[in-house]
Amino acid sequence: MSHLNTIVQYVKHQIRAYNRHGIHSPFVYAFLEDVLYADDRSEFKNLEQLKNALLNDERVIQITDLGAGSKINQNNNRLIKDIAKHSSKPSKYGRLFNRMVKYYQTEQVIELGTSLGLSSSYFAQNNPHLKVTTIEGCPETLKIATTNFEKLNLNNIRTLQGDFKDRLSEALTPRGEKEIIFFDGNHQEQATLEYFKTALKNVSSKSIFIFDDIHWSIGMTKAWNKIKGHPQTVVTLDLFFIGIVFFDERLTPQNFNIRF
Ligand SMILES: C[S@@+](CC[C@H](N)C(=O)[O-])C[C@H]1O[C@@H](n2cnc3c(N)ncnc32)[C@H](O)[C@@H]1O
Repeated sequence: MSHLNTIVQYVKHQIRAYNRHGIHSPFVYAFLEDVLYADDRSEFKNLEQLKNALLNDERVIQITDLGAGSKINQNNNRLIKDIAKHSSKPSKYGRLFNRMVKYYQTEQVIELGTSLGLSSSYFAQNNPHLKVTTIEGCPETLKIATTNFEKLNLNNIRTLQGDFKDRLSEALTPRGEKEIIFFDGNHQEQATLEYFKTALKNVSSKSIFIFDDIHWSIGMTKAWNKIKGHPQTVVTLDLFFIGIVFFDERLTPQNFNIRF
């Protein structure tokens, strides 16, 4: 999908999307009111300072790309500041992830795609009872992420190095744990659907899946549509840049486009 096409899709999404008004599902309304649009004054000063430092970091590392790669840069030597620029999301997503852990009393987060460790840190910060397992295929990038976790004094993050397809099964937690699985790497249709299938093996009514970049390409939109239509999927929220999936069978199956 070209950038122009992504912009057109985004505008269409914003026109169709709901905020609180018009949402009749009490579950989704509560999520919007108490989590998505919550008045959040939490302090992430150290994390945001670290992110700014990474956005100006002139060191070069050699990356191993096991995924769909960047649309921008195809060679293997990268400036850390470029990795930070292209792989990190606006802080509002990190803050949302942190609120979700608090609201749903999440016990485990599994992340596919550590990169420099920013989203793992947002999940983990001020949530000492949470365990985060994050998987990354690039050893040099993971080294920087590990240093970042140390700088932020985050002791609740475990890292696994390797290909998602080889490491995801061992990261999965026993069925029934309050878990969030964040799919944020290798944004290709078939691969995304394979990871989804693997993660479904342990899914319970308490599981929440978050998919990044669901409209990054035509293939990713197709993958997202298949995820929405899967018989185990119950409620989905399309926030355009991310998609959230709930599996609680007590809820009425529905798909929502939400403004964020
Ligand atoms: C978008 S970045 C993750 C960003 C990070 N979650 C954040 O928000 O701070 C995706 C990462 O996934 C890794 N990756 C992509 N495909 C992979 C695969 N098949 N196995 C392991 N790692 C992979 C890339 O090396 C890259 O660092």
